[in-house]
Amino acid sequence: MDDVKMSIDRRSFLTAATAIGATLSWSDGASAASAIRWRERRDLYPQGVASGDPDHHSMVLWTRRPFAGDEPRQLTAEVALDPKFRRTIATARAPVAAESDWTCRVLAAGLRPSTVYWYRFTDDEGSGSRIGRTITAPDPSDERAVRFAFVSCQSVNEGAQNALRRMIWEDQRTSADRRLGFVLHLGDFIYEVVEYPDEVQHRYDRTVFDIGRVPDARKVGNFHVPTSLAGYRMVYRAHIDDPDIQDARAWLPFVCIGDNHEFSWQGWQSFIKYDGKKEPAQKLRVAANQAWWEYIPSRVHKSSGPGLERFSPPPVVDAPINSLDADGFGDEQNNRIAVSSMTAYRTLRYGRHVDLIITDFHSYAMEDPTSRPEADALASKDFPLLLPEEALAILDAGSAWTGGDPPDTIAFGSASVPNFRRDEPPITVLGRTQKAWLKQQLASSTATWKIWAATNGTLDVRTDPQNLPAGMGPQWPGKGYATFGGGDFSAALLERGEIYDHVRDARVTGFVTVSGDRHSFWAGYAAKSLPPAAFDPVGVTFITGSISAPGLAEALEHGLKGHPLRGMFVAERPDGTKEPTVNLSLKHGVRTALEYARTGDLEHARLLSNPDLSPHLAFVDMGGHGYSTVTAGPRSIETEFVCVPRPISRSATDDGGPVRYRVSHSARQWAAGEAPTLHQRILEGDPKLSV
Ligand SMILES: [Fe+2]
Repeated sequence: MDDVKMSIDRRSFLTAATAIGATLSWSDGASAASAIRWRERRDLYPQGVASGDPDHHSMVLWTRRPFAGDEPRQLTAEVALDPKFRRTIATARAPVAAESDWTCRVLAAGLRPSTVYWYRFTDDEGSGSRIGRTITAPDPSDERAVRFAFVSCQSVNEGAQNALRRMIWEDQRTSADRRLGFVLHLGDFIYEVVEYPDEVQHRYDRTVFDIGRVPDARKVGNFHVPTSLAGYRMVYRAHIDDPDIQDARAWLPFVCIGDNHEFSWQGWQSFIKYDGKKEPAQKLRVAANQAWWEYIPSRVHKSSGPGLERFSPPPVVDAPINSLDADGFGDEQNNRIAVSSMTAYRTLRYGRHVDLIITDFHSYAMEDPTSRPEADALASKDFPLLLPEEALAILDAGSAWTGGDPPDTIAFGSASVPNFRRDEPPITVLGRTQKAWLKQQLASSTATWKIWAATNGTLDVRTDPQNLPAGMGPQWPGKGYATFGGGDFSAALLERGEIYDHVRDARVTGFVTVSGDRHSFWAGYAAKSLPPAAFDPVGVTFITGSISAPGLAEALEHGLKGHPLRGMFVAERPDGTKEPTVNLSLKHGVRTALEYARTGDLEHARLLSNPDLSPHLAFVDMGGHGYSTVTAGPRSIETEFVCVPRPISRSATDDGGPVRYRVSHSARQWAAGEAPTLHQRILEGDPKLSV
């Protein structure tokens, strides 16, 4: 970097850093051996260290050092070019206080691009944290490929984080040019629904592990959920106490966005919902945002102003939210204040090739219409999990259906179900402001790949019960295909179409979506509609399996016992082996799934595949757990799914245990107006029913 650029960078950085009131750890380029007397005391830093949101010259460093008493203290943070701190390049004093639950953030700056740094914290008695490793982003002009991992859904209560252990193990052994630059965590960093093993020993195949008691908890079924800041803080600590989560955070910088469980399982905006009843929970929304901000090092905006020391929650009350504005947002002042206490959507640039555009799918979203009690009339016990596609489209569009002419009722077989969405705005997940921002980011990006970090999956989840063979029981009451229903972006049909139309109209190339949340691996194409409507993909889409939380395939193994259509979802062999035929129902159709469940002959069953069902899918595994990587280069993008066995208990080996399969999907760059093509390679193992 030349001197002129350096000084501009430095000046503009200082302006920006002053604006956020950050604790600076400015490096002037010189290095020296550390003068700090550091003795590692991991017990005094029980949640270890972490780093977040790197750019090409800075990132946020994090630790937690609880002290007895209420008096604020100071730590010393050090950044070095080597893990022995012989070449320490920056030192800063950083405050810690009970007010932020003794969490501590430091902005380390003036760093070199694409460089590995080591960092640690030491208190005034010389007691030190473990040593963390982090990496700056490449310079925006850097032509080299960018590599990163994307993950989601880590349950320490019901599973083991073997996928993270595997990720670290592989990263430590790969060549320098194959090393990961960061981990994109797409949410469900915590599960706020905590089970206690003295009450529940098992769920599905899982053992319930003791992660402690949630203070001020509310009991919902078997779950204990936080009702206060103390509750969320406890749940974050319990997750980061996991050795594999903690080691992953100490090995790589994390870029995080929350999913639903960072606030509430069935929550949105400032609403929570239990037993089908929604409640205003503005105070809880603020508490959830505060705990996230305290435990996840990031550069997100908070309404209390700049500064990395404290969150300073705005005061709110749990006032009723009785109406929605024209954009589907709860028209109530405390709801606005609570939601805007933290604004997490943001873009991070990685070299020449990647803009990572991160969106928030729960702070501005409307209630999922298929989760409302009125939608129960569109469900049939004869066809578990399924909803007619045409019914979902009417519910999604609300008052905007066919240009403002919604029907009063929705046909469901011989029944006529009231259209309860008739007078409501069309469903938004993004909200007005964030949607405009997303479109602007996509259109203005100069990176080769515009990678949309969309927490929730965008690929349609559908099957073809209209093709059930004769003699399988009652007739499907829908007009055509069935969807597995709402709950993610694939059901926000109008809004998804609007985004994809924008990608096409603004001639955005290199449009790639990465998601989590579904607890399953998916690869496919971004298209706003499927046959019999036009199929016109504008990008490629990948969804990662959960790190550990149970998925639908596992739940189905324990459900639908004796149901005539069980073979559509799970095949059970005489020896007790269970196989996820739900994958076949989604990719090939019900005839393939049922035939395979009956015979076990996959080749023959695939001959019954319905070619119109899933042109949007290259791969689906509803039973997969693991992590995924992206390699984004000048001419192509590649995603690798690394699937591990069902993570019921922690692997006894340092490698995190075996790999079930490793599958690659790659696409060469395509021109505006062209359709992308995915190329699939099975690198290891056998994904069997997934292709
Ligand atoms: Fe999840």
